[in-house]
Amino acid sequence: MISREAVQKILEAGAQAPSGSNSQPWRFDVRGNEIRVWAFPEKDHPILNFRHRGTWVAHGALIENIAIAASALGYKADIKIFPDHSKPNLTAIIGLTASTPRDEPLYHAIPRRATNRKPYKPTPLTFEEKLELLAVNQEDKEDVILTEDPDDIRRLGAAMSVNEVVMLEDRKLHKLFFDEIVWTEAEEKERKSGLYLKTMELTPPPQLALKIFKYWPVMHFFNRLGLAEMIAKDNAKVYSAAAAYIGVIVNDSDKEFVTAGRVMERIWLTGTKLGLSVHLLTGVLFLWQRIIAEGGKGFSQKHAELVKRAYGKVASTFKVGDNKMVALLLRIGRGDPPSAKSSKKPPTVYISD
Ligand SMILES: Cc1cc2nc3c(=O)[nH]c(=O)nc-3n(C[C@H](O)[C@H](O)[C@H](O)COP(=O)(O)O)c2cc1C
Repeated sequence: MISREAVQKILEAGAQAPSGSNSQPWRFDVRGNEIRVWAFPEKDHPILNFRHRGTWVAHGALIENIAIAASALGYKADIKIFPDHSKPNLTAIIGLTASTPRDEPLYHAIPRRATNRKPYKPTPLTFEEKLELLAVNQEDKEDVILTEDPDDIRRLGAAMSVNEVVMLEDRKLHKLFFDEIVWTEAEEKERKSGLYLKTMELTPPPQLALKIFKYWPVMHFFNRLGLAEMIAKDNAKVYSAAAAYIGVIVNDSDKEFVTAGRVMERIWLTGTKLGLSVHLLTGVLFLWQRIIAEGGKGFSQKHAELVKRAYGKVASTFKVGDNKMVALLLRIGRGDPPSAKSSKKPPTVYISD
């Protein structure tokens, strides 16, 4: 039987996965050689996390880390996604059987992977780098499309920055955004979740201003003078500072969002191994899904239109028709290292033999 130490090591690697605002919406049950992965979608952003799909992407990344770590430590992982329809929060059952430990170069990238929100140099990726980044999708499970066309990159950067207009102009979203910010290093080390201010890579003046803008009346007043749009414009410049974007395209199915998360994590770890910087962007994509499904309910007409237009630009860049959707975007390039890394909680594991 698999040792407790091995399970612990595998789950610790799993729990290094990215999650929306570092929410880490997971818990594990271990019975013999079987790991049950449970989701806590309520830990994720209630508006952005449309149909829990942000949670499913994070779980995809978690499951991929588990599979890589298991293989490196000498176990074959048999993964069943959403194995029981009567238990919608049981994301996966993972059976582990002993096998020969394999050399898994991505295993060593797991603790080094991080979100890097800095601007990147436009230096193109080499042919070998592109080949390696795209080789992750060997089974052609998802459409993975890379673009390095400067016009595409500029269009995607501008489209994705529309998220900030909506987040900062909509009162509910403004509150949710500021509630997620972790302001100090001490608080970050204590909470080990939330959006740590230092990882946002703001220059000192906006960092100071952010402390004032957390008060809605102040934000609202300055929005009338175009503040949210100015912030989005600045972010569009950062989002456009990239060597390439990779889009992961899926069908409208929860399971495919888990698979998209797995593919994303492989790309991110491969990028990390190659010394590249990576930034996951999803805001507009998830807002669009909600707006389309609910006819814009809960959003102003201006915001619904802005998001629809922005998503339209993303979809047309990747030539995605109405039968598929862009699940997530990765901005890739060469940037200085991130100013800080988000801490992870030790995995919560219940063991019954
Ligand atoms: C489903 C999902 C959506 C995310 N969307 C964004 C996003 O739109 N913008 C962003 O800057 N980071 C985004 N992130 C990155 C998280 O904020 C980040 O993973 C988390 O804060 C932990 O940091 P780490 O990636 O360095 O471990 C997203 C992560 C996940 C899993």
